[in-house]
Amino acid sequence: MGSKTLIIGACGQIGSELTNRLRSELGIENVIASDIRESNLELVNSGPFEIIDAKSYTEIKNCIQKHNVGTVYLMAALLSATGEKFPEKAWDLNMSSLLNVLNLAKEKIISKVFWPSSIAVFGPTTPKQNTPQRTIMEPTTVYGITKQVGERWCEYYFNNYGVDVRSIRYPGIISWKTLPGGGTTDYAIDIFHKAINEGHYDCFLTEDTALPMMFMDDAVKATLDIMNADANAVKIRSSYNLAAISFTPKELANEITKQIPDFTINYEPDFRQKIADSWPNSIDDTAARQDWKWKHVFDLQTMTNEMLQQLGKPTIS
Ligand code: SER
Repeated sequence: MGSKTLIIGACGQIGSELTNRLRSELGIENVIASDIRESNLELVNSGPFEIIDAKSYTEIKNCIQKHNVGTVYLMAALLSATGEKFPEKAWDLNMSSLLNVLNLAKEKIISKVFWPSSIAVFGPTTPKQNTPQRTIMEPTTVYGITKQVGERWCEYYFNNYGVDVRSIRYPGIISWKTLPGGGTTDYAIDIFHKAINEGHYDCFLTEDTALPMMFMDDAVKATLDIMNADANAVKIRSSYNLAAISFTPKELANEITKQIPDFTINYEPDFRQKIADSWPNSIDDTAARQDWKWKHVFDLQTMTNEMLQQLGKPTIS
C-alpha cells in the first residue's frame, strides 16, 4: 500500500482548504487532488491533480495505484438543497462514491479513509437542543438519508472488514476562500458577501432559525485531529457529533452590524426553510471532545471578524 494522500472532491468548499493544509503538512508531491472537473484553477495548479468521477471505482483505483495512495479523503457529495432538486443523482453520487472507497480499503488497496457525515443525518423527530451522539435519526432530505446510510456502512466495514474509516458530522461550515455549493447553511456565507458588496441581504431562512455552525479553520483542524488520532481513540466508527457555534440569522446579522452599521437584512424563507427546520439547533459533541480531544477555537465574534476582514480586503487586479 502506498503512503500518499488523495482528496476526492478537492475543488469544493472543504476539499480545497483541506488539500492546501495537507499539502503544507505532508509536502505538495504527497497530496493528490482530484475532482470531476477543474473548477478551482488555483487548487488545480497548486500540485498533482487528476480528473476523477467519484462514481467510478476504476477511475479511483487507477489514480490510487498510479500515485501510490494509502489514505483517501472522500469530500465529493451533492449537498442538501441540490439533493432535493436531484434526489436520485444525490443518492447515486453520495452512495456509490462511498462504497467505492470503502471497498478499496476492504481490498487493502488503501489503508485509511475519511468520509464526512453531517447534521443532516438528524430529522424533525430528533431532540433539537444539544442533540446527543446517539438519538432518533429520521432524516427527511435525500442528502440526510445518504449520510445516515453512509454512517451505517462505515461502521459495518469497520466491524466486519477492519476498515479504518473515520468520520465527523460537520455542521454548517463558514469560509471565505471557496464558495459552498448547494447547502442549506450557505446563507451564513452569502450574508458576508452581500453585506460587504451591497450592504443588504435577503435571507432564505427566517430570523430565528438556529443552526449548528463552524468556521473552516476549526473544521479542517477537526478533520486532521481525528485522522491523526490513535486508532484506539476513535471509538465511534459511524460518525462523531461535532460542534462549535450555534446562531440564528438574526444573531449573525447583529454581529455583522457591529462592523457595518448600515447593513440591512430581509427574511424571505424558501424551500430550504423546511430543511433547516428538520435539523438540530445545537449539538452535543462530548464524545469527540473526550475520545480524540476535539476543541474548537472560533466563536461567533471571532468568526465574523475574520470573515469581514478577509472578504473586505481589496482584491489585487
Ligand atoms: N452544510 C450542509 C448543507 O447545508 C450540511 O451538511 O447541506
